Amino acid sequence: MNRNEFKRRRRQLMGMMGAGSVAILPTGVEAVRNRDVHHPFRADSDFYYLTGFTEPDAVMVLVPGRSHGEYILFCREKDPTKEMWDGYRAGLQGAVDDYGADDAFPISDLDDILPGLLEERERVFFAMGSDPAFDKRVSDWVSQVRSRARAGVHGPIEFLALDHYLHDMRLYKSRAEIAVMRRAARLSAESHVNLMRHCRPGMHEYQLASLFGHHCQMKGASELAYPSIVGGGNNACVLHYVENNQPLRDGDLVLIDAGCELDCYASDITRTFPVSGCFSDAQRSLYELVLEAQLAAIDKVRVGNHWNDPHQAAVRVLTKGLLKLGLLRGTLAKALKAKSYTKFYMHRTGHWLGMDVHDVGDYKVDGHWRELEPGMVLTVEPGLYIPRGTKGVAKKWQGIGIRIEDDVLVTRDGPDVLSRDAPKTVAQIEALMAE
Ligand code: GLY
Ligand code: MN
Ligand code: MN
Repeated sequence: MNRNEFKRRRRQLMGMMGAGSVAILPTGVEAVRNRDVHHPFRADSDFYYLTGFTEPDAVMVLVPGRSHGEYILFCREKDPTKEMWDGYRAGLQGAVDDYGADDAFPISDLDDILPGLLEERERVFFAMGSDPAFDKRVSDWVSQVRSRARAGVHGPIEFLALDHYLHDMRLYKSRAEIAVMRRAARLSAESHVNLMRHCRPGMHEYQLASLFGHHCQMKGASELAYPSIVGGGNNACVLHYVENNQPLRDGDLVLIDAGCELDCYASDITRTFPVSGCFSDAQRSLYELVLEAQLAAIDKVRVGNHWNDPHQAAVRVLTKGLLKLGLLRGTLAKALKAKSYTKFYMHRTGHWLGMDVHDVGDYKVDGHWRELEPGMVLTVEPGLYIPRGTKGVAKKWQGIGIRIEDDVLVTRDGPDVLSRDAPKTVAQIEALMAE
């Protein structure tokens, strides 16, 4: 992403903050996996959104109107020995030259410098509650400033939730963000196609997971947005199944929920297809029902509709279909009112998508479902799950879990399905797998 994009975001935020305020935003903390081994570090999304800076041990401070520079980055200093062991550091000069900071200080000096930046500032924008240790440091800095009141020093009197402002900004994707998300979705879609091509009975779930990651990595996405879910047969009924350790059986469906991350933007796609390449009659009936529900929901992703409209469309189609197949009983009106579909469809139809796979942004505003607006991106992912042993259900439906998930951009011209390259009709899937 272009440096100007980050600058534009900082300027937009500072415009909202106004003079007399300061924003403090640390990046994430490195997590230990086990003795001497860390999980790969991924910058905090809010922090990256404003800085583009990917190293750990960093704090961004914005001080609108500060004459010595409004954008301050605290980060690790250059250290030849440490860099020889653990890799490159931008250092203070790099923070200024490569990341556009007006001023940079060593992260080790944070406690000494920060109280001075709070003097004569009335409002502090800070996301309280995500890291208790950092919360404590912020309150210590504020106390230090207040303790100098008799010397005529004024400290902040107002605290505002920085995350609230940032998350609303992040909900509306810019042209540059949409371009990255489109690339991520395309690459993931291509990787799903690759799985349909390579899947054979007898392979293990982890082999499909591995192929998915391999394909994304070979094409330049080094990270996945979340651990891949590969569930064969009954395992597809576990919504966040991640064991991925069972063999794939002829006659079963396999559900794959997987997406790569590009430049800190997520994609999130689910496809469900027959391990052998051909749907059975029961599988096809349920699959086509889920697909009909998904298409109806995607059709509701339109400017001016509400967040809940796609979900309601999906639920209506699913309920109708389940009644027709004899999996539910009664009238449509009664079944909808009783929400009897929740026996087979227990999650919602989607979520915001962006830097985080379950992205930030409010779903309701003033107690009402939010209106969809251009630039928002969401997933549409209805499903049906009928685990083995479900009471009152004929055997032929059991052990089937289906979800179809796409990433959809809201535009003035209607829904733009970013992940459209992954086939999803029965005919397309069977033809592809027969190749
Ligand atoms: N991959 C998680 C989800 O679909 O929400
Ligand atoms: Mn999802
Ligand atoms: Mn998903």
